[in-house]
Amino acid sequence: MDMKMGRKGMGFVAALFLLAVGAGAQAPMSHEEAHQRAESLLKQMTVEEKVGQMNQASGAALPMLGGQKPDSLIVQGKVGSILWLTDVKEINRLQHLAVEKSRLHVPILFAFDVIHGYRTVFPVPLAMASSWDPSVEEQAQHFAAEDARAAGIDWTFTPMVDIARDARWGRMVEGAGEDPYLGAAMARAQVRGFQGAAIGPESILACVKHFAGYGAADGGRDYDSSYVPEELMRNVYLVPFHAAEQAGAATFMSAYMDLNDVPASGNPWLLTEVLRKDWGFKGFVVSDAFAVSSLQVHGYARDPEDAAYKAVSAGLDMDMASETFTHNLPGLVKNGKVSEAQLDAAVLPILEAKYELGLFDHPYVDESKVDAVLDRPEGLALERKIAARSMVLLKNDHATLPLSTGIRKIAVIGPLAYSTRDIEGGWTVEGLFGGASKSHPVTVLAALKERLGSGAEVSYVPGPALSRLYPSMFDQMSGKKPLPPPTEAEKADWLAKTKAAAEHADLVIAVMGEAADMSSEAASRATLTLPGIQEQMLEAAASTGKPVVLVLENGRPLNLLWASEHVPAILEAWYPGTEGGAAVADVLFGEVNPGGKLPVSWPRIAGQEPLYYNHNLTHEPEDRPGFTSRYWDISSKPLFPFGYGLSYTTFKYSDLKVSQKSIHVNGSTEVSVAVTNTGNVTGDAVAQVYIHQRYGSASRPVRQLKGFERVTLKPGETRTLTFPLGQAELSYWNPQTKAWGMEPTEFDVWAGGDSTASLHTDFSVIQ
Ligand code: NOJ
Repeated sequence: MDMKMGRKGMGFVAALFLLAVGAGAQAPMSHEEAHQRAESLLKQMTVEEKVGQMNQASGAALPMLGGQKPDSLIVQGKVGSILWLTDVKEINRLQHLAVEKSRLHVPILFAFDVIHGYRTVFPVPLAMASSWDPSVEEQAQHFAAEDARAAGIDWTFTPMVDIARDARWGRMVEGAGEDPYLGAAMARAQVRGFQGAAIGPESILACVKHFAGYGAADGGRDYDSSYVPEELMRNVYLVPFHAAEQAGAATFMSAYMDLNDVPASGNPWLLTEVLRKDWGFKGFVVSDAFAVSSLQVHGYARDPEDAAYKAVSAGLDMDMASETFTHNLPGLVKNGKVSEAQLDAAVLPILEAKYELGLFDHPYVDESKVDAVLDRPEGLALERKIAARSMVLLKNDHATLPLSTGIRKIAVIGPLAYSTRDIEGGWTVEGLFGGASKSHPVTVLAALKERLGSGAEVSYVPGPALSRLYPSMFDQMSGKKPLPPPTEAEKADWLAKTKAAAEHADLVIAVMGEAADMSSEAASRATLTLPGIQEQMLEAAASTGKPVVLVLENGRPLNLLWASEHVPAILEAWYPGTEGGAAVADVLFGEVNPGGKLPVSWPRIAGQEPLYYNHNLTHEPEDRPGFTSRYWDISSKPLFPFGYGLSYTTFKYSDLKVSQKSIHVNGSTEVSVAVTNTGNVTGDAVAQVYIHQRYGSASRPVRQLKGFERVTLKPGETRTLTFPLGQAELSYWNPQTKAWGMEPTEFDVWAGGDSTASLHTDFSVIQ
């Protein structure tokens, strides 16, 4: 139920690409030609060489693989792809081995997690989704693709399009949040950004992950089982995957967990029924790392041979890192359990992609040009713009913000204010492999000092460094050790320093949240509180009566119950990337008027999770007389609703209309709404349209986002925006008929600035 884009769908990047081709860049090979060449190469391959293409080896000499480099396997033609290698010299060395020393000279596909930038690091995906502007996500991922390709990376494991309805799940930060409609828009934009109009020498392959249902992990615990009925899969969890597939994504990644008791990496329903038969996907699917051998851990496969058999039979084409295919598929072909035709079906799209990328013609990286591309200054300007555009103003009492640059004495508090490592978030080259960042991130403290100049007094109290109690495997890889918690005496000392700094200042800026390794993979939490003594520091600062601005750097909603009552201004900056500090200053001083909106419902406390606005109504509404909150101890409403975010100006929505009050099944109507800037400064509104199906064959969510647009309006300016509501928006996967469709019913329509919008109209659907 997605807008069809197709590989030839023309977006911003496509237009750029055509310009580049016009200017003399190497034109992409047509899919037909790539297909023919791949077919004829496939005919020359032995079973072992075919299985080789289905093997993605680790570029890092991992201890679980005996610490060996993949050199000898490459020469034997047994490595189709390599992941996690970012050293350009080593990439070239291995590519030379493949192209010059292997029998058929097939180049290697180098893959890496280019999640939100390469050297220039853009805001984390959850932040970019907060922009509610798919074009910025497309621009960022296009820039990242150019960087990565110049550095020898041909394939990224992005976009992550997992719906995340539970903030305890650490990987919420990597996706677009809780909503399938917003998620689909961001998924399409990312595919266009990475791949361009057609895969070619300037693109990198996108990989849509984690297929599928990973975000529904029990208790928000990363990797735990997901139980998601088919109706919820089809109507919610699969929607952004399908959108990315329709946008032409070349590859998919199977998820780690069991979906309804069948591991996703060996799940025929997901990999064959849905992906290939229903959607017609023609690319290839890679497992998540070690997920094929892990089929044994799940108790799904008897031994490695059974794991290889079950994965391939389900529709998996490439084994990431576990070498289970390498060691078992040739034998399975020999004993007739796996046919050579099955191998051919897996290998063909892998070879096609290599041809389309131009790897057969230009397999090597020009080492002399890498730094010039990666250090392009325009990337920093783009990054800063996108970072500011992604920030969400959660609270601004008494117009505390924007600040005046005339302010002379500020106290900056919090462990994240001066942390170059954290401001870029997780999934960065340096974050994964350790070492000094080559991107020189700008912290909030550095940017504030620069902005206020030498005439201002800026004191800084970091407080104790943040630390996980249990380190993740990434911490272990990068050598980050857990720190002992501060002693009572150390805590008291930090709190006294915080109070003294606040007393001496005119304003306090607290930069707090989570260290970068506290969200993302293997970073789930049972609580959502501010880690360490951050909240006590905030309380100490606020107790002085000085105005406090809380700037959050984090990858998920946190428990802000206290802060939301006692701190006058709160800005959600997420992990804003390389120029993040400068972008925070742009927003704090009003050079940029914040316009981002929450892509998730913000809970009061962790116990409300999973929490999402598009739930069904299964009992009398809690605000009906005689009823009350679903909990007796706390409101069941979010602290901040999905779609919410303030601005330095105000907006009014009016004149909500539908063009047709009554439509036929499969017909369409158009919603129009006027939005006016009613304040004194130019600002961005994000007009949002929600619908509700009143009755039919199934309970439908109380509200569903079905249209949005971010617009810039001058003071007093009004724009009337229109949004189509047709088959794509009004159909759903009906659990009774087990098919997509519209049905005779009535729909409520709301439009406004967040998911609680009250401006209302309706229309009916007749047979
Ligand atoms: C495991 C993660 O789940 C996945 O998102 C990532 O792409 C792979 N490892 C490769 O790094």
